[in-house]
Amino acid sequence: MANDNVTYHSYDVVIVGAGGAGMRAAIEAGPHAKVAVVSKLFPTRSHTGAAQGGMAAALANVEEDSWEWHTFDTVKGGDYLVDQDAAEILAKESVQAVIDLENMGLPFNRTPDGKIDQRRFGGHTRDHGKAPVRRSCYAADRTGHMILQTLYQNCVKLGIEFYNEFYVLDLAMNDGKPSAVVAYELATGDIHVFAAKSIVFATGGFGKIYKTTSNAHTLTGDGVGIIFRKGLPLEDMEFYQFHPTGLAGLGILLSEAARGEGGILRNASGERFMERYAPTIKDLAPRDMVARAMANEVREGRGGGPNKDYVFLDLTHLEPAVIDAKLPDITEFARTYLGVEPYTEPVPVFPTAHYAMGGIPTNIKAEVLSDNDTVVPGLYAAGECACVSVHGANRLGTNSLLDINVFGKRAGRYAVEYAKTAKQVPVPENAADEVLAMLEKVRKAKGKEKVAQLRKELQETMDKNAQVFRTEETLNEAFDKIQELRKRYENISIQDQGKRFNTDLLEAIELGFLLDLAEVTVITCRERRESRGAHLREDFPTRDDQKFMVHSMAYKTENTDKATGTNIKLGWKPVVITNYQPMERKY
Ligand code: FUM
Repeated sequence: MANDNVTYHSYDVVIVGAGGAGMRAAIEAGPHAKVAVVSKLFPTRSHTGAAQGGMAAALANVEEDSWEWHTFDTVKGGDYLVDQDAAEILAKESVQAVIDLENMGLPFNRTPDGKIDQRRFGGHTRDHGKAPVRRSCYAADRTGHMILQTLYQNCVKLGIEFYNEFYVLDLAMNDGKPSAVVAYELATGDIHVFAAKSIVFATGGFGKIYKTTSNAHTLTGDGVGIIFRKGLPLEDMEFYQFHPTGLAGLGILLSEAARGEGGILRNASGERFMERYAPTIKDLAPRDMVARAMANEVREGRGGGPNKDYVFLDLTHLEPAVIDAKLPDITEFARTYLGVEPYTEPVPVFPTAHYAMGGIPTNIKAEVLSDNDTVVPGLYAAGECACVSVHGANRLGTNSLLDINVFGKRAGRYAVEYAKTAKQVPVPENAADEVLAMLEKVRKAKGKEKVAQLRKELQETMDKNAQVFRTEETLNEAFDKIQELRKRYENISIQDQGKRFNTDLLEAIELGFLLDLAEVTVITCRERRESRGAHLREDFPTRDDQKFMVHSMAYKTENTDKATGTNIKLGWKPVVITNYQPMERKY
């Protein structure tokens, strides 16, 4: 294949993605090696900026707290599918992670005596579930935004090289080892090959497999999809989190901090329904339980609005000054998008697709695994694209900003340590060929199908069939629809034939990743015949620790796998248990 317009670069460490995890890795690696960050977006537009309510850490600045309680809450919140060695690291290293950010200049909210303030969040408790605890450090309801700005400024200070609006579309392997990533430059349409001794994936999630989502348009799971296409496994893909409070009908995130600050969920008759579902911590139960309770209220006819299809987040009892100081952005969203005044009116809300607990399997050094415990040398992943697994079957709110900082830092540290002694794996001569062929195929396609229409149908079937409630029947319906969409995807065409800023072309490529990831999600949902955390199978309503106290591992295969009837094969991997045996999950 002709390799004109392919530019070659060489680094010690290449980081794919400039969100929180990618930039935290860059800050760790930058002073010790030649590092580049290759990002689909300008860094401060990354989705970390949409995270609102806080970052968990047992600082105990305002109440007694401990990293052990934080670990326990994380394990229990994750419905015991959490790898407990990783959760211990998350909780133990949280305090230093906050101090790192403070030292970098992050403007956290403060207590009157000048300490970093902390607020309540779902599932974070004192003394093993006795009562909610104030554990989440925050900057109003813009914590992710502040983290992103702070990390970017520090990257600039360190002179980290950024390649912005470069879409990484492939990982070049040589003899099973990663040698480079291949990227498409949006501004020019040129192809770039970035050779590196260590490659870190920090590419975020894939919420755009759903229609109603808090995720940005760009969250199409390209990084996770690339890894899967290379024959490496994806772990726990059946566990997708629905954040309870999306703006009704739109999915835009209204931070759980609203409930942390005293907001209450009510049904159409004004009842505080969470008292029935989680009598001890009520509205501050973990997200899976709250989302399920909300969906149940609607299902049983207690929803509000003309179609009775949402419940209400009531902030009217809070002082307007508190709302303005602590929840300024989200209350403005309610005004702007729904025309509701949160000082005086309850805000219509419904669960929104928010976060993938599953992703690229890694160990506690952020090294990518090619099976249950074999490391792929020189390949790392951190943040939402990775599954280490600290979130198990359901992530606790504010453990995500923590995860990107703790495991982003670890990815940077171990990637640079490896790069110091490793030799560059030779980059295959044809490294760019697969990407060139993929782009060419889409450009030249003359089919009748439109990308936006296929994406819409995919998202609709996922919302309908693989949302908060699932059954074999709904999952089969989603599966069949995905197979149909796959066929129709072979018959697409795009309008824009230009080289520069061809988002038409890239959206077609992104749809390919979305289809892959939706298919893996549906198949793993179908095979896990139990209910655990965010995965609620109505036909298998209880947790089955005998059979399913294991992580799923999904692999792409050449031939049809007999068990799944697709080109996806499933394996299972034991959960790491240190201190906490699975118990019934009551709140
Ligand atoms: O509700 C929120 O502010 C979201 C936080 C998170 O997903 O951790």
